Amino acid sequence: MDPKRRVVNYALLGLVGTGGYVASSFVFSSLEPPLKARLNAATLIETTALKPDEVAFFSWRKKPIFLVKHTENSPRSFKLGSYYYTLMIGICTHLGCIPKYDASIKSFVCPCHNGVFDIHGNPISGPVTKPLEIPPFSIQGDSILVGEAGEVYNNLLGIKS
Ligand code: FES
Repeated sequence: MDPKRRVVNYALLGLVGTGGYVASSFVFSSLEPPLKARLNAATLIETTALKPDEVAFFSWRKKPIFLVKHTENSPRSFKLGSYYYTLMIGICTHLGCIPKYDASIKSFVCPCHNGVFDIHGNPISGPVTKPLEIPPFSIQGDSILVGEAGEVYNNLLGIKS
């Protein structure tokens, strides 16, 4: 083959390859939600400033979020650093009211029908039969990112990834 023609062929091949890569990158990146949308849909909780055995309150997608930092493990807790955490959506599983934390009994008490959940979100009295829901979350260093299901969340809920 003519050397000039060969150079032109290689140049064309390179151009087509680059174009294909750029086009496929654009297609695949457009399939993922934009980073800003993902961050807006999530709540990042920095855990190091939280005190053990106290309830911290946050919100995620306009829902109340309860987070408790423990020194002991429980079936609804996960470990982060030296502590265990219980993360819950603060919406009563009976009819959707927002339970209030009562530090004197270390429980969440629902004002609507007196349903009571323990510090881990387990139902202990009243008409409630299901525990407070655990929102999807992932671990980001010392922080908890509420809104994206990560490995710890999947393990806690027994979800196979
Ligand atoms: Fe909470 Fe009924 S809504 S106990």
